[in-house]
Amino acid sequence: MPVLALVGGQWGDEGKGKVIDSLAANANMVVRYAGGDNAGHTTVNPYGTFRLHLIPSGIFYPDVRCVIGNGVVVNPAVLLREIAELRQHGVETHNLVVSDRAHLIMPYHTLLDKLEEQRRGPGAIGTTQRGIGPAFVDKVARTGLRVGDLLDGAVFRRRLESTMEQKNALLTSLYAHSPLSVDDVYSQYMDYGAQLHAHIADTLPLIHDAMQRGDTIMMEGAQGALLDTDFGTYPYVTSSSPLAASAALGSGIGPTCIDRVIGVFKAYATRVGSGPMPTELKDDTGEFIREKAGEYGATTGRPRRCGWFDSVAGKFSVRINGMTEAVLTHLDIFDGFESVKICTGYRIDGVLTTEFPTMVEMVERCQPVYEELPGWSECTEHISHFSQLPTNARGYVDALSSLLGCRVSFVSLGPRREQIIAVAPSPFTHS
Ligand code: IMP
Repeated sequence: MPVLALVGGQWGDEGKGKVIDSLAANANMVVRYAGGDNAGHTTVNPYGTFRLHLIPSGIFYPDVRCVIGNGVVVNPAVLLREIAELRQHGVETHNLVVSDRAHLIMPYHTLLDKLEEQRRGPGAIGTTQRGIGPAFVDKVARTGLRVGDLLDGAVFRRRLESTMEQKNALLTSLYAHSPLSVDDVYSQYMDYGAQLHAHIADTLPLIHDAMQRGDTIMMEGAQGALLDTDFGTYPYVTSSSPLAASAALGSGIGPTCIDRVIGVFKAYATRVGSGPMPTELKDDTGEFIREKAGEYGATTGRPRRCGWFDSVAGKFSVRINGMTEAVLTHLDIFDGFESVKICTGYRIDGVLTTEFPTMVEMVERCQPVYEELPGWSECTEHISHFSQLPTNARGYVDALSSLLGCRVSFVSLGPRREQIIAVAPSPFTHS
């Protein structure tokens, strides 16, 4: 019963889409379990280059069943666009199923996300403005509409009227915005429902039958551990949990069903949006990494903040996810670097710590303490075996394994599907 959860180990954008696209050749099912179209999973494969926001990255294999789980918030307009784009490129989408329990992102969610960010002014979170926060607020407040509601016009209308009364009051009073029309939203969403009808189902039996058959199931996470609502740099976080534990809730399986938790880490750190990032490089090196790696948001196009690998945050992430192994992506970006640094501790007000602090104000005061390792000059992008990697590149991978206390099982050396190599099992030191 191999169920693997693949999670982001940092602030998102670690390359989860690429890793899923590479590993899903051996899977029977891929399930997206959290987030919404704030995610942007980039894959480069024989069909072309894609940035998937909602559809699981296993979609490029016609025999892999792809599920959008109950834990995802779904903007049907985005989903339909994504289906159309894939079809245009000859990618089959008949294997895509959306949970009827997943909540819908509505036009007032995206509008409220934008208006609330404006209202926050200099304290803005830097959200993707895709309506994610407001949609999860409604889910928890029990005022949300779900994908299954699209299939019953009368039920949908009743729920919509009740919720929109409240939303329009908020729009007009707090934000001085004009109200939205219930009729317009209703007819637009009924149209989406008609188009998505064939993809909507109770996904629970599908997932449980697959587990019973012993199928290989990959749980595809979105965002990264440090954006988790509970454990991230609150309030500069997203509104659902990117952690492995959420793979159980977001798909409807028990936590004991997850066999392996694979954390995806970039060889360096990036963050998009506001909030502290202790190893951020506001200098030429940071700029060089951004340009070489094309570190611009897949969803918003915003430049990503870049910095050295933060093993304090990384070890924290290994713990809160219960990672059994890690995948290191973008290692090739360091080709040609004379040396590379890893943050091994923080000084907060002069005191050394190796624990990731709880309060955002403390994280803001963290001064990183670095270990410097020798770099390598060779180009690694065509390397197909771990033993062929330059000695110093292997040394960097081993150092990260040791600091994280988690074996690195794969290293990715470029955006293409085949640019990923297995790391021979090697003993590593638990720190
Ligand atoms: P939201 O999820 O759109 O509400 O944004 C909250 C925070 O999470 C912002 O800092 C976003 O930039 C960040 N964020 C959301 N989704 C992603 C992602 O897929 N990758 C990286 N950052 C993300």
